[in-house]
Amino acid sequence: MSLPEDVKSCCAAVYSSDAVALLLGDSYHPGGAALTRRLAGLVKLRPGHRVADIASGPGATAWLLATEYDVAVDGVDFAAPAVQRAERMSKRLGLSDRVRFHVGDAERIPLPDNGFDAVLTECAFCTFTDKATAAAEVARILRPGGRIGLADVTVGDSGLPDELSTLAAWVACVADARSVGQYRAILDGAGLATIHAESHDSALVRMLDQVEARVHLMRMTQKERIVAAGINVDDVLNFMDIVRRAISDGLLGYALIVAEKG
Ligand SMILES: C[S@@+](CC[C@H](N)C(=O)[O-])C[C@H]1O[C@@H](n2cnc3c(N)ncnc32)[C@H](O)[C@@H]1O
Repeated sequence: MSLPEDVKSCCAAVYSSDAVALLLGDSYHPGGAALTRRLAGLVKLRPGHRVADIASGPGATAWLLATEYDVAVDGVDFAAPAVQRAERMSKRLGLSDRVRFHVGDAERIPLPDNGFDAVLTECAFCTFTDKATAAAEVARILRPGGRIGLADVTVGDSGLPDELSTLAAWVACVADARSVGQYRAILDGAGLATIHAESHDSALVRMLDQVEARVHLMRMTQKERIVAAGINVDDVLNFMDIVRRAISDGLLGYALIVAEKG
């Protein structure tokens, strides 16, 4: 397996690329805004709360939380280009007084101790190379009684087929995903006690359907953009077939987990 810093850089580069923007659109996690709202409800966001979105990606979750829940949001992501784009968009949306984005590593979060009522991390914890340290960092920035809402890819107990253990699969949030029990144990080890978990495997299937539809449409209407973004359509479709099979075999799923700092 590659070195942790290589995995992080590769993941950050891929997620700030045009190719991913073309394939995924605005939402980089299964379930889109609906599952973000579900998570916001489960962590009990209230007006005036301070929230951290760890691995904030393009920024859509931070803007949704600020506008719909009247909270202040600090987004942190390893990918500098994505953070800069999100900062510019915050200004354009007139939200820069309440939504800020920072370049940073989930394993060294550039935010103060005990400063947050809630932390969200969507479809990203599975890519963190040192999950125990990332969980400890979340515990450090949460106030006592604050909650983390984790949305992530999950694996079954028998693990994954070899073709889903590559660096590409890691970046696609699959290779280093864990079972719900393992995520809970990692959070628990950092003093974050799980109070709720629920499965949303169908959200993963819907996301694959959406990406596949985008790929087919782009292949017909935007061939040059696909080429310019360096997307190999056959590779993408082949990878998605493998993921689809893993979901239907019960090897892959998606879950929300909510834990509280004691
Ligand atoms: C699948 S995207 C999810 C983005 C966003 N949470 C969303 O749901 O739209 C994964 C994100 O994790 C970020 N990431 C990966 N490793 C990270 C790390 N160690 N620290 C901070 N961000 C990281 C990537 O740059 C990418 O933006």
